[in-house]
Amino acid sequence: MTAVGIDAVGIWTGKLKLDLPGTFAPEKGDDPEKYTKGLGLNNSSFPDVYEDIVTMGANAAKRLMDRKGLEPEDIGRIDVATESAFDHSKPVSTYIAGCLEQVYDGDFTHANKGERKFACLAGTQAIDDAYNWIRAGRNRGRAALIVSTDTALYARGDPGEATQGAGAVAMLIDEDPSIVELSMEQGYGSKDETDFLKPNQQFPSVDGKRSVQVYLSRMREALEDYESVTDDIELDDFAYAPFHTPFPGMVRKAALLAYRHVIRDTEYEDDLADEIGRQPREADFDDREAYEEAIREYMDELKTTEQYQTWYDTVVEPTLGLSREVGNWYTSSVHIARVSALRDALTRDRSFVGDTLLVASYGSGAQAEIHAETIRDGWTAEIEGLDIDDQLASRYDLTWSEYEDVHDVHEYDMDVDREIEEFTQPEGEFVFTGWGRMNE
Ligand code: HMG
Repeated sequence: MTAVGIDAVGIWTGKLKLDLPGTFAPEKGDDPEKYTKGLGLNNSSFPDVYEDIVTMGANAAKRLMDRKGLEPEDIGRIDVATESAFDHSKPVSTYIAGCLEQVYDGDFTHANKGERKFACLAGTQAIDDAYNWIRAGRNRGRAALIVSTDTALYARGDPGEATQGAGAVAMLIDEDPSIVELSMEQGYGSKDETDFLKPNQQFPSVDGKRSVQVYLSRMREALEDYESVTDDIELDDFAYAPFHTPFPGMVRKAALLAYRHVIRDTEYEDDLADEIGRQPREADFDDREAYEEAIREYMDELKTTEQYQTWYDTVVEPTLGLSREVGNWYTSSVHIARVSALRDALTRDRSFVGDTLLVASYGSGAQAEIHAETIRDGWTAEIEGLDIDDQLASRYDLTWSEYEDVHDVHEYDMDVDREIEEFTQPEGEFVFTGWGRMNE
């Protein structure tokens, strides 16, 4: 069967940044280490006043198309994954296609366009749809363009304010892909939850602490489901494990949970048994609370072991590099985690071709999905071709009062003067110039 997967990537970060330890923490009266060590974030990206989810998505897609030398006719499907859409009818993919048609000779008249929604999970679901479309043979030799794009803003003063971010990732899904091949097997954990939602509102209503527990519960279910459709998962099977990263501290918790799950009844658990004992088994407890307490104690021990630290530092920590500098990009978060991992692989002295990634996506509401990806032999050129370091370095560093203005400008319902000066100068990129006009 021909391999199907991710052939190319384009990234666009919002052009402003907020320094969390330097600007946010003093304003909130907090210890800067709450952000750098606790949440694991250094900076958040924000859109300049002329940027939004359309311009960021179109700019990411144009970078990808130019690098790959693509024309619109090469693309038979455009799906946008977002939870920041401003239009309840017309999909964001049509706006992005409209931008791209201004700068290429051809058009997307015969491409199927849509919009995917399931909170942060939607980018992975859109990739899934593209995979199925290609596998079903309905693509007529054309590739799918998936664009995940969000302005992840919270109401001012919400605890989530520290985890904001803005950016887009474009991904080309095709046969014989250069970066990774997608596996057929998937695991799901899904339940109706209301810890993070936006019913007809721009900013989420969030129960932050509960959202962390819901993330972990759905992830555990997805792992169990994934194991039921694959052979047993072994720790050595995976070079990296990119997780959905609302903030790196969340991944620290999820990685520990995944590790405990995977080592159950394996030689790793045997190796650790002398040091920290075996994992408590629910059947040995009459009372659920006592069992949960025993698990908590076991996890606290587990995370201090050398085996766990080594695995975490090699397989998980390298996936967090971009997230630490940009914050939560919602639908793009797991996709920049994958890119972070491969950027780390570029610095190592081995090929990684044929190695496997364990990709764990999550969206509030709530659903987790787990699948594996196999690294392909064109990956280095694709990852080396990204200019994300330049983009990050050229972001404008906001003062606190500038941050307040920018937050207001991007709040749809506020009656504020939106005519504040831009902080950066656009250069060869799509900008928002008013409804119906999107110029490069
Ligand atoms: P908070 O209550 O302000 O922070 O908000 P905290 O007091 O829980 O502290 C955070 C961490 O920093 C803790 O670490 C502290 O101990 C530590 P932990 O104990 O959890 O490991 N800390 C320090 N560390 C070092 N030095 C210090 C210090 N002080 C504290 N001085 C919260 C945290 C997550 C609740 C908040 O940021 C929030 O509400 N975020 C938004 C919701 C969110 O991101 N949830 C994540 C799971 S849901 C998800 O991922 C889906 C999502 O992406 C949306 C979607 O799917 O569409 C959000």
